[in-house]
Amino acid sequence: MARNILVIHGPNLNLLGTREPHIYGAQTLDDINRHLVQLATELDSTCQTYQSNSEGQLVDRIHAAAQQQVDYIIINAGAYTHTSVAIRDALAGVAIPFLEVHLSNVHRREPFRHQSYLSDVAQGVIVGLGAYGYEAALRYAIAA
Ligand code: DQA
Repeated sequence: MARNILVIHGPNLNLLGTREPHIYGAQTLDDINRHLVQLATELDSTCQTYQSNSEGQLVDRIHAAAQQQVDYIIINAGAYTHTSVAIRDALAGVAIPFLEVHLSNVHRREPFRHQSYLSDVAQGVIVGLGAYGYEAALRYAIAA
């Protein structure tokens, strides 16, 4: 069945490719998004992508998803993962199933990255697989 997937990237992920590449890899956000859109097409589905550095814009984009028949959200909320009750409430509010993705293994890093406001309301969480984590999430969301 064709699925409509929304991939949301939070703050600083626009810097991928140059941002701490030893942690986040060499691929740019455009590289990652292009791959996801192409893969979704191959799997007879659609994938929209969105990035913002602003918490309010991320909340607004999640709300808009509810009007767009989005079947599944894949979100890397970046640092807001560890701080944002507002993003958690938005995801719970629209009741669209979602997967939380992190490029790095946040559990192997500083203690403040071990807490997530999203994980216990997510369908699943993928950490530490680099850009492949988004692909794995997309394949799951389309098959789900
Ligand atoms: C991140 C991990 C977060 O702790 C960090 O603030 C990010 C990226 C990741 O993809 O590994 O911006 O979400």
